[in-house]
Amino acid sequence: MSKKINETITWVGQTDWELTSFHGDEYSINRGTSYNAYLVRDEKTVLIDTVWDPFAEEFVERLADEIDLNRIDFIVANHAERDHSGALPVLMRAIPDKPVYCTANGVKSLKGHYHQDWNFNPVKTGDRLSLGSKELIFVEAPMLHWPDSMFCYLTGDNVLFSNDAFGQHYATELLYNDLVDQAELYQEAVKYYANILTPFSQLVTKKINQFAGLNLPLNMICPSHGVIWRTEPFQIVEKYLKWADNYQENQVTIVYDTMWEATRRMAQAIAEGIRSVDVQAAVKLFNAAKQDKNDIITEVFKAKAVLVGSPTINKGLLHSIAGLLDSLKGLGFKNKKAAAFGSYGWSGEGVKIITERLRAGGFELINDGLRTTWNPDAAQLDQCFKYGAEIAKSIS
Ligand code: FEO
Repeated sequence: MSKKINETITWVGQTDWELTSFHGDEYSINRGTSYNAYLVRDEKTVLIDTVWDPFAEEFVERLADEIDLNRIDFIVANHAERDHSGALPVLMRAIPDKPVYCTANGVKSLKGHYHQDWNFNPVKTGDRLSLGSKELIFVEAPMLHWPDSMFCYLTGDNVLFSNDAFGQHYATELLYNDLVDQAELYQEAVKYYANILTPFSQLVTKKINQFAGLNLPLNMICPSHGVIWRTEPFQIVEKYLKWADNYQENQVTIVYDTMWEATRRMAQAIAEGIRSVDVQAAVKLFNAAKQDKNDIITEVFKAKAVLVGSPTINKGLLHSIAGLLDSLKGLGFKNKKAAAFGSYGWSGEGVKIITERLRAGGFELINDGLRTTWNPDAAQLDQCFKYGAEIAKSIS
């Protein structure tokens, strides 16, 4: 069902309560998501974005209930990823000649996905599309988060359609930021930033400053996932500026995997050592084999220091830790200290491997790591406790 936002804008997207993973199985979804599409009616009518392929037929049917499809004058594809462009093939079969506005990279990407030669109209930052009494102003946003990404701004109503930026994977029928549970909303917003936008933080800051430099009034931000920011819309912009600026809280995140509980016991003793020095710091422990990878990455994002532990197996690491370290390297966290730990029985390379991978991932190493043998005894656990205490001193 469509939802009227104001006299000009109608939400015509899809709320997906069933989704459990996104980007294949790369991103866990705990509260569903939405694919937000918007119909903007002035003297001309424009459709901004569509929805994911499985909902294509349903989307076009509902859109046709809302408006005679032939009365849509323009289509804007802010981003070609399939969660926003997936209904274009069905829609374009109904209105094949309508112009599609997107970036030059958007043309490449849409052609790559759908192999169709639609009536593409590539746009650049500052280009304007007249809708009659109002205009859409296009703002390219490369790498926020794909090379083709783009925002557009509606004059008169002063609304930014930001596509993925400022979004959350968060299904709600309530539609607006002020109506939903704020803890849920921000938990999903920070997870989205940590897991998707972290590699592009410098560009986030630059793009926000560039947009601020245009001095355009802003009444509302309409992203392509989650809620519409209508109440104090700058609150999420300010959060993005903080998150993009080498973000950290007073938190130490300890991530480990364990075979016979030895590395887990090390983790707990290290945590107690940290707490013995810094009772204010949030110290959080996660077993990477059992807990959600994307939630762990979010807790890495919040941390000022990250401790990673694995026993040695086959001269290497347990795969949950090896995989996580690869993800952390790709995300390119900045301003975070790190150290390794782990138990071993025979060859014991694990800690050195973790240390090297953390360094390659841009973490500042606190030390060369701590190893214990077999199942740590009281003396070894005391060594872990002292290791934690020394780390706490070095990061306080
Ligand atoms: Fe929501 Fe980059 O797609």
